[in-house]
Amino acid sequence: MQPGEMKSADEVLYVGIDLGTSSSAIAASNGEKKWVESYVGWPKDFISAKVLGKSVLFGREALKNRLSLDLYRPLEKGVLKEGTAKDAEAVKELIHYLIKLVNPSEGQKINAVVGVPAESFKVNKLAIRSAVSGFTDSIMVVSEPFAVAYGLNMLNNAIVIDIGAGTVDFCIMHGTLPADEDQKTIINAGDYIDQQLNNFLTEKYPGSTFNMNMVKGFKESNGFVGNSSAPIKVEIPVAGKPTEHDITDEVKRACESILPAIIETVTEMIAKFDPEYQAKVRDNVILSGGGSQIRGIREYIEGRLKEYGSGKVTVATDPVFSGANGALALAKDMPKGYWDQVQ
Ligand SMILES: Nc1ncnc2c1ncn2[C@@H]1O[C@H](COP(=O)(O)OP(=O)(O)OP(=O)(O)O)[C@@H](O)[C@H]1O
Ligand SMILES: [Mg+2]
Repeated sequence: MQPGEMKSADEVLYVGIDLGTSSSAIAASNGEKKWVESYVGWPKDFISAKVLGKSVLFGREALKNRLSLDLYRPLEKGVLKEGTAKDAEAVKELIHYLIKLVNPSEGQKINAVVGVPAESFKVNKLAIRSAVSGFTDSIMVVSEPFAVAYGLNMLNNAIVIDIGAGTVDFCIMHGTLPADEDQKTIINAGDYIDQQLNNFLTEKYPGSTFNMNMVKGFKESNGFVGNSSAPIKVEIPVAGKPTEHDITDEVKRACESILPAIIETVTEMIAKFDPEYQAKVRDNVILSGGGSQIRGIREYIEGRLKEYGSGKVTVATDPVFSGANGALALAKDMPKGYWDQVQ
C-alpha cells in the first residue's frame, strides 16, 4: 500500500453497528469486532456508585449488578420507547461504548451505518440518529435485515428473515434500496418464546423454582421445532434440591409458537412480489439473528415454502455479526450523497 493510501484510509474509521434488543454488535474497518448484551445501567445512588466504582455499566456486567442499578434495555420490542429520555440516553451510552471498544485512533473521523430493527427504523430513525450523532461524523440508519442482505450480497430477488429477541424482521430485496413497504416486522420473537416457555414450565412444574434467565438458557441450549431426536432433560431446583425435569414438549411448543406468523408474513410478502420472480425469491430465503439457531427452523420454513412449488432457505453463517458486517460493508461502499452529515 502507498503511504498516501494509508493516510486516507486512516482518516476515517468506518463502523457498522447492529443495535439489537438483546445484543448489539460493532464491526470496524480497522478489523475490530465486538459485541455486548444491550443492557445499560446507572448506579441507583451514591452508595452503589461507590461500590461499583463506575458511573455507567454495560452488558453482562450491568446484568450481574442489576440490584444496584437502574437497568435499561432500551430497544425492548424493537422500538425506542417514546418519550422516555432515559432509553434515549441508554442508546447513546451504548453506542458510545461500542465505538470505544473498536479503538478509534485520536482525531479519527467516524462514519457509522447503524442497523436497527425494521420497526424502530420506521418510528425512531430520528431519535436513533441523534443518539449517535454525538460520536460520529457521518451516519446512516438502515433496517437490520437490509444490512444483513447487503453483507451477503443478496441484493436481488431475495428475502431476509432476521429472528431476533424483540422482533422478527423481514426485508425483501429487488435490486434497489428497500422502501418501507419492502419491510415487515412482527413482535413475537425470542423474548416471546422465553415467556411462553416460562408459562408452560410454571404450569407443568409448579413446585420448581426457575427464572427467565434460566428459561432463556434452556431455550438456547435445546431450542428446536419439528421432531426431536432425544428427550430434553434439565436440572431445576425443587425445594432447594437440583432435580431432573423433562422439558421436551414445552420447548417444542414454545419455539413453534412463533412459526405461524413467520410463515404467514413471508408467504404474503412473496405473493405481492412480481409473479415472474416469486419462485426465485422462494429459493433465496436467508435466516439471520440468534433465533435462526433454533434446530429445525430452516427445514420447517423451507418445507412450508415448498408447498408453493419450490423453496430454499439458508442460515447466515455468523448470526452474531452478520448485521454489523453488512452495515460495515455498506459504510465502506456508500457514496457521499447518501450520508446524513452530522454537524
Ligand atoms: N442457540 C440458540 N437457539 C435459540 N435461540 C437463540 C440461540 N442463541 C440465541 N438465541 C436467541 O436469539 C435472540 C437474540 O438474537 P439477536 O442477537 O439476533 O437479537 P437482537 O438483534 O438483540 O434482537 P432484535 O433483532 O429483535 O433487536 C434471543 O432471544 C436469544 O435467546
Ligand atoms: Mg437483531
